[in-house]
Amino acid sequence: MALRVLQKRSALLAERSRELGEARLVVGAAIVRSGRLLAQQRSYPESHAGQWELPGGRVEDGEKPEEALVRECVEELGVSVVVGEQVGPDVPLRKDMVLRIFAAELAELDGDEPEALEHNAVRWLTAAELPVTDWLPADRVLVPALQELLN
Ligand code: C5P
Repeated sequence: MALRVLQKRSALLAERSRELGEARLVVGAAIVRSGRLLAQQRSYPESHAGQWELPGGRVEDGEKPEEALVRECVEELGVSVVVGEQVGPDVPLRKDMVLRIFAAELAELDGDEPEALEHNAVRWLTAAELPVTDWLPADRVLVPALQELLN
């Protein structure tokens, strides 16, 4: 019963946000280690399979952007991250969504290596590799900001 009430409340909040014209947030992590940036290769949908993106995903109702990013990195990579400042501008995605990237580091105590749990592969890219990587369109817009983060 309590769950039904919460679900209804969250649907109403989402509807109100759409009425107010607020875009739904997708967050991504710019995880840097030893001067390299972690990227992951999508396996779906077919139109984007093989392209690279920063780890992340949709912020759920009631979640803070930073919390969503920590959750997504556990789900997609099996690692804990410490979230820092926003990198570059918000980038509009299709429909009512925007992509917001935050700098992040692997949590030191953790010690786990990131693994592609939901993707084809993960790679640590150098600054020189960023412009020649086949990024998803919104992530590509952020390449200059990501290069600056690495340099
Ligand atoms: O991963 P998920 O399907 O939750 O992402 C929601 C949307 O955000 C998708 O359309 C995906 O292509 C986009 N996205 C993106 N760049 C990222 C992460 C997600 O363009 N780094």
